[in-house]
Amino acid sequence: MTTILQISDTHILPEGPLVSNVLDTASSLEKLIIRINQLRVKHNDIECILVSGDISEDGSSDSYQRFKSIMSLLELPVYVIPGNHDARENMREAFMAENIFTKTGPLNWHKKIGHINLIGLDTLVEGQGGGYLMPESLEYLEKTLNNIKSEPTMLALHHPPFETGIQFMDSIGLENTNEFKNIISNFTGELRVVCGHIHCMMVANLNNHIAISSPSPCSSFEYDTRSSAPVGFINEVDGCLLHRWNNGFKSVRIGPLVGSGPFPF
Ligand SMILES: [Fe+2]
Repeated sequence: MTTILQISDTHILPEGPLVSNVLDTASSLEKLIIRINQLRVKHNDIECILVSGDISEDGSSDSYQRFKSIMSLLELPVYVIPGNHDARENMREAFMAENIFTKTGPLNWHKKIGHINLIGLDTLVEGQGGGYLMPESLEYLEKTLNNIKSEPTMLALHHPPFETGIQFMDSIGLENTNEFKNIISNFTGELRVVCGHIHCMMVANLNNHIAISSPSPCSSFEYDTRSSAPVGFINEVDGCLLHRWNNGFKSVRIGPLVGSGPFPF
Protein backbone atom coordinates (compact mmCIF):
# COMPACT_ATOMS: atom_id res chain seq x y z
CA MET A 1 0.00 0.00 0.00
CA THR A 2 1.24 3.50 -0.84
CA THR A 3 -0.43 6.82 -0.05
CA ILE A 4 0.48 10.16 -1.64
CA LEU A 5 -1.23 13.41 -0.78
CA GLN A 6 -1.60 16.00 -3.54
CA ILE A 7 -1.90 19.72 -2.88
CA SER A 8 -2.17 22.18 -5.74
CA ASP A 9 -2.07 25.87 -6.54
CA THR A 10 -0.97 27.29 -3.21
CA HIS A 11 -0.06 30.69 -4.80
CA ILE A 12 2.20 31.80 -1.95
CA LEU A 13 3.55 35.37 -1.87
CA PRO A 14 6.33 36.77 0.32
CA GLU A 15 5.00 38.13 3.61
CA GLY A 16 2.88 41.31 3.21
CA PRO A 17 0.76 41.57 0.07
CA LEU A 18 -2.36 39.51 -0.65
CA VAL A 19 -3.07 37.76 -3.97
CA SER A 20 -5.16 40.16 -6.09
CA ASN A 21 -5.49 42.22 -2.87
CA VAL A 22 -7.99 39.62 -1.66
CA LEU A 23 -6.47 36.24 -0.79
CA ASP A 24 -4.26 35.45 2.17
CA THR A 25 -2.93 32.29 0.55
CA ALA A 26 -0.35 31.54 3.26
CA SER A 27 -3.08 31.46 5.89
CA SER A 28 -5.19 29.13 3.67
CA LEU A 29 -2.24 26.76 3.30
CA GLU A 30 -1.57 26.84 7.05
CA LYS A 31 -5.19 25.84 7.69
CA LEU A 32 -4.87 22.96 5.23
CA ILE A 33 -1.68 21.78 6.95
CA ILE A 34 -3.55 21.67 10.28
CA ARG A 35 -6.31 19.67 8.56
CA ILE A 36 -3.78 17.24 7.05
CA ASN A 37 -2.04 16.75 10.39
CA GLN A 38 -5.44 15.83 11.92
CA LEU A 39 -6.03 13.46 9.02
CA ARG A 40 -2.75 11.68 9.64
CA VAL A 41 -4.22 10.16 12.78
CA LYS A 42 -6.48 8.19 10.40
CA HIS A 43 -3.96 7.78 7.59
CA ASN A 44 -0.57 7.36 9.18
CA ASP A 45 0.90 5.99 5.98
CA ILE A 46 1.12 9.18 3.88
CA GLU A 47 4.57 8.86 2.35
CA CYS A 48 4.99 12.23 0.69
CA ILE A 49 3.29 15.39 -0.53
CA LEU A 50 3.07 16.19 -4.22
CA VAL A 51 2.39 19.83 -5.06
CA SER A 52 1.15 20.18 -8.61
CA GLY A 53 2.27 23.67 -9.54
CA ASP A 54 1.56 27.33 -8.90
CA ILE A 55 3.40 26.92 -5.64
CA SER A 56 4.20 30.61 -5.81
CA GLU A 57 2.08 33.51 -7.03
CA ASP A 58 5.03 35.63 -8.18
CA GLY A 59 7.89 33.11 -8.66
CA SER A 60 10.09 34.90 -6.11
CA SER A 61 12.73 33.09 -4.03
CA ASP A 62 11.14 34.53 -0.87
CA SER A 63 7.78 33.01 -1.75
CA TYR A 64 9.38 29.55 -2.11
CA GLN A 65 11.10 29.95 1.26
CA ARG A 66 7.78 30.91 2.85
CA PHE A 67 6.09 27.90 1.23
CA LYS A 68 8.81 25.58 2.51
CA SER A 69 8.58 26.93 6.02
CA ILE A 70 4.78 26.33 6.12
CA MET A 71 5.14 22.84 4.61
CA SER A 72 7.85 21.89 7.11
CA LEU A 73 5.07 21.61 9.73
CA LEU A 74 4.11 18.32 8.04
CA GLU A 75 7.55 16.73 8.41
CA LEU A 76 7.04 14.82 5.16
CA PRO A 77 9.01 14.86 1.89
CA VAL A 78 7.55 17.47 -0.49
CA TYR A 79 7.95 17.08 -4.27
CA VAL A 80 6.94 19.88 -6.60
CA ILE A 81 6.33 20.60 -10.27
CA PRO A 82 6.08 24.09 -11.77
CA GLY A 83 2.87 25.86 -12.80
CA ASN A 84 2.44 28.96 -14.91
CA HIS A 85 2.94 31.28 -11.91
CA ASP A 86 6.26 29.68 -10.97
CA ALA A 87 9.77 30.68 -12.06
CA ARG A 88 11.88 27.74 -13.18
CA GLU A 89 15.31 28.78 -11.90
CA ASN A 90 14.11 30.11 -8.53
CA MET A 91 12.16 26.92 -8.06
CA ARG A 92 15.10 24.72 -9.04
CA GLU A 93 17.29 26.51 -6.51
CA ALA A 94 14.69 26.37 -3.73
CA PHE A 95 14.03 22.62 -4.10
CA MET A 96 17.47 21.35 -5.14
CA ALA A 97 17.92 19.55 -1.80
CA GLU A 98 15.05 17.16 -2.64
CA ASN A 99 17.34 15.64 -5.31
CA ILE A 100 14.70 15.35 -7.99
CA PHE A 101 15.72 18.20 -10.31
CA THR A 102 18.55 18.20 -12.81
CA LYS A 103 20.90 21.21 -12.79
CA THR A 104 19.61 22.54 -16.12
CA GLY A 105 16.66 22.06 -18.47
CA PRO A 106 13.00 21.42 -17.70
CA LEU A 107 11.98 20.35 -14.19
CA ASN A 108 10.99 16.78 -15.07
CA TRP A 109 11.62 14.00 -12.56
CA HIS A 110 10.82 10.43 -11.60
CA LYS A 111 10.90 8.97 -8.11
CA LYS A 112 9.78 5.61 -6.78
CA ILE A 113 7.53 6.09 -3.73
CA GLY A 114 6.60 2.74 -2.20
CA HIS A 115 4.68 0.85 -4.91
CA ILE A 116 4.17 3.94 -7.06
CA ASN A 117 6.36 5.44 -9.74
CA LEU A 118 5.80 9.16 -9.37
CA ILE A 119 6.63 11.29 -12.42
CA GLY A 120 6.63 15.09 -12.47
CA LEU A 121 6.47 16.98 -15.77
CA ASP A 122 7.28 20.62 -16.47
CA THR A 123 4.64 22.43 -18.58
CA LEU A 124 5.78 25.94 -17.70
CA VAL A 125 6.26 28.52 -20.43
CA GLU A 126 7.59 31.52 -18.57
CA GLY A 127 5.60 34.68 -19.13
CA GLN A 128 2.38 32.99 -20.25
CA GLY A 129 -0.57 31.25 -18.62
CA GLY A 130 -0.86 28.35 -21.04
CA GLY A 131 1.29 25.23 -20.78
CA TYR A 132 3.48 23.32 -23.23
CA LEU A 133 5.52 20.13 -23.02
CA MET A 134 8.87 20.79 -24.67
CA PRO A 135 10.16 18.07 -27.06
CA GLU A 136 12.73 17.04 -24.44
CA SER A 137 9.95 16.66 -21.85
CA LEU A 138 7.90 14.44 -24.18
CA GLU A 139 11.02 12.40 -24.87
CA TYR A 140 11.66 12.14 -21.12
CA LEU A 141 8.11 10.95 -20.54
CA GLU A 142 8.31 8.32 -23.27
CA LYS A 143 11.66 6.98 -22.03
CA THR A 144 10.58 6.94 -18.38
CA LEU A 145 7.32 5.09 -19.13
CA ASN A 146 9.23 2.57 -21.25
CA ASN A 147 11.61 1.89 -18.36
CA ILE A 148 8.76 1.55 -15.86
CA LYS A 149 7.12 -1.03 -18.16
CA SER A 150 3.78 -1.71 -16.43
CA GLU A 151 4.27 -0.78 -12.76
CA PRO A 152 1.66 1.50 -11.09
CA THR A 153 2.43 5.07 -12.04
CA MET A 154 1.22 8.51 -11.04
CA LEU A 155 2.02 11.24 -13.51
CA ALA A 156 1.76 14.88 -12.46
CA LEU A 157 1.63 17.97 -14.64
CA HIS A 158 0.20 21.38 -13.80
CA HIS A 159 -2.00 22.02 -16.85
CA PRO A 160 -4.90 19.57 -17.30
CA PRO A 161 -4.35 17.46 -20.44
CA PHE A 162 -8.08 17.70 -21.19
CA GLU A 163 -10.64 20.35 -22.04
CA THR A 164 -12.32 21.51 -18.86
CA GLY A 165 -15.27 23.47 -20.27
CA ILE A 166 -14.28 26.58 -18.28
CA GLN A 167 -13.46 28.59 -21.36
CA PHE A 168 -11.15 31.20 -19.87
CA MET A 169 -9.09 28.37 -18.34
CA ASP A 170 -9.10 26.30 -21.53
CA SER A 171 -7.68 29.32 -23.33
CA ILE A 172 -4.61 28.91 -21.08
CA GLY A 173 -4.61 25.10 -21.16
CA LEU A 174 -2.01 22.59 -22.33
CA GLU A 175 -1.08 23.31 -25.94
CA ASN A 176 0.14 19.87 -27.02
CA THR A 177 -2.35 17.58 -25.29
CA ASN A 178 -2.52 15.17 -28.24
CA GLU A 179 1.21 14.45 -28.20
CA PHE A 180 0.96 13.74 -24.46
CA LYS A 181 -2.04 11.47 -24.96
CA ASN A 182 -0.31 9.54 -27.73
CA ILE A 183 2.59 8.71 -25.41
CA ILE A 184 0.50 7.58 -22.46
CA SER A 185 -1.80 5.50 -24.64
CA ASN A 186 1.08 3.05 -25.16
CA PHE A 187 1.51 2.48 -21.41
CA THR A 188 0.05 -0.84 -20.36
CA GLY A 189 0.25 -0.44 -16.56
CA GLU A 190 -2.14 1.39 -14.26
CA LEU A 191 -1.63 5.10 -14.72
CA ARG A 192 -3.20 7.94 -12.76
CA VAL A 193 -2.67 11.39 -14.29
CA VAL A 194 -2.97 14.23 -11.78
CA CYS A 195 -2.94 17.96 -12.37
CA GLY A 196 -3.96 21.36 -10.97
CA HIS A 197 -4.44 24.81 -12.55
CA ILE A 198 -8.27 24.84 -12.55
CA HIS A 199 -8.68 25.00 -8.75
CA CYS A 200 -11.39 22.35 -8.67
CA MET A 201 -11.65 18.60 -8.80
CA MET A 202 -12.52 17.24 -12.22
CA VAL A 203 -12.21 13.69 -13.55
CA ALA A 204 -11.58 12.92 -17.22
CA ASN A 205 -10.78 9.93 -19.40
CA LEU A 206 -7.51 10.11 -21.34
CA ASN A 207 -7.21 7.21 -23.78
CA ASN A 208 -8.59 4.92 -21.05
CA HIS A 209 -6.41 6.35 -18.27
CA ILE A 210 -8.04 8.42 -15.51
CA ALA A 211 -6.98 12.04 -15.09
CA ILE A 212 -7.93 14.08 -12.01
CA SER A 213 -7.41 17.74 -11.19
CA SER A 214 -6.94 18.83 -7.61
CA PRO A 215 -8.77 21.62 -5.80
CA SER A 216 -6.74 24.50 -4.36
CA PRO A 217 -6.58 25.50 -0.70
CA CYS A 218 -6.91 29.20 -1.52
CA SER A 219 -9.57 29.77 -4.19
CA SER A 220 -11.75 28.09 -6.79
CA PHE A 221 -13.10 28.65 -10.28
CA GLU A 222 -16.79 28.24 -10.77
CA TYR A 223 -17.86 25.55 -13.25
CA ASP A 224 -19.41 28.01 -15.68
CA THR A 225 -19.17 26.81 -19.30
CA ARG A 226 -20.69 29.89 -20.94
CA SER A 227 -18.41 31.94 -23.18
CA SER A 228 -19.67 34.92 -21.17
CA ALA A 229 -18.55 33.37 -17.85
CA PRO A 230 -17.02 36.08 -15.67
CA VAL A 231 -13.23 35.70 -15.68
CA GLY A 232 -11.94 35.42 -12.13
CA PHE A 233 -11.79 33.35 -8.98
CA ILE A 234 -14.11 32.69 -6.05
CA ASN A 235 -12.59 33.16 -2.60
CA GLU A 236 -13.73 29.70 -1.59
CA VAL A 237 -11.16 27.55 0.20
CA ASP A 238 -10.93 23.86 -0.62
CA GLY A 239 -8.64 20.99 0.26
CA CYS A 240 -6.51 18.43 -1.47
CA LEU A 241 -6.54 14.89 -2.88
CA LEU A 242 -5.45 11.68 -1.21
CA HIS A 243 -4.25 9.04 -3.68
CA ARG A 244 -3.97 5.56 -2.29
CA TRP A 245 -2.61 2.57 -4.15
CA ASN A 246 -3.53 -0.85 -2.79
CA ASN A 247 -3.68 -3.22 -5.76
CA GLY A 248 -5.27 -0.32 -7.63
CA PHE A 249 -5.55 3.47 -7.29
CA LYS A 250 -8.26 5.23 -5.32
CA SER A 251 -8.38 9.01 -5.15
CA VAL A 252 -10.35 10.88 -2.50
CA ARG A 253 -10.97 14.61 -2.16
CA ILE A 254 -10.21 15.89 1.33
CA GLY A 255 -12.22 19.09 1.72
CA PRO A 256 -12.05 21.59 4.57
CA LEU A 257 -13.64 20.25 7.74
CA VAL A 258 -17.25 21.48 7.90
CA GLY A 259 -19.98 19.93 10.00
CA SER A 260 -19.53 17.53 12.90
CA GLY A 261 -19.88 13.82 13.56
CA PRO A 262 -19.70 10.92 12.91
CA PHE A 263 -23.16 10.33 14.42
CA PRO A 264 -24.27 6.71 15.02
CA PHE A 265 -26.90 5.41 12.53
FE1 LIG B 1 -2.06 27.62 -12.96
